[in-house]
Amino acid sequence: MSSERARLPHGPMVWVMEHDVLIEDTGEHFLCRDSETLLSGMTRLCRKGIPVGCRGGGCGVCKVRITAGEHRCRPMSKTHVSDAERAGGVALACCVEACGDLRLQVMGKMQRAVCRTGKASEPPGT
Ligand code: FES
Repeated sequence: MSSERARLPHGPMVWVMEHDVLIEDTGEHFLCRDSETLLSGMTRLCRKGIPVGCRGGGCGVCKVRITAGEHRCRPMSKTHVSDAERAGGVALACCVEACGDLRLQVMGKMQRAVCRTGKASEPPGT
């Protein structure tokens, strides 16, 4: 966990908490701010193939299993995550906010996309 100063939209500079999130399938890490969803943080990896759909829990393309770490979930459709899955840590990345460092596994369409494309491409000349 770390913190950094950031300016709120049309507001003062404040300290924001950032949490380290590990994608166990690829070994990649990304930072996620306290108030943003895992999907928003994941998209900053600048990788092709991360499925981003409705961003509101309605389409189910961003399914993950959280294997460790505190988090809070916004309401999500039982069409895409059953009560049994939810009890096992399954959630929609667009509906989860990290409260501390997390580990997750990608599932479904997210798994096919993330695991197929591997890590972010290296900058030219490296
Ligand atoms: S982007 Fe549609 S459910 Fe997450």
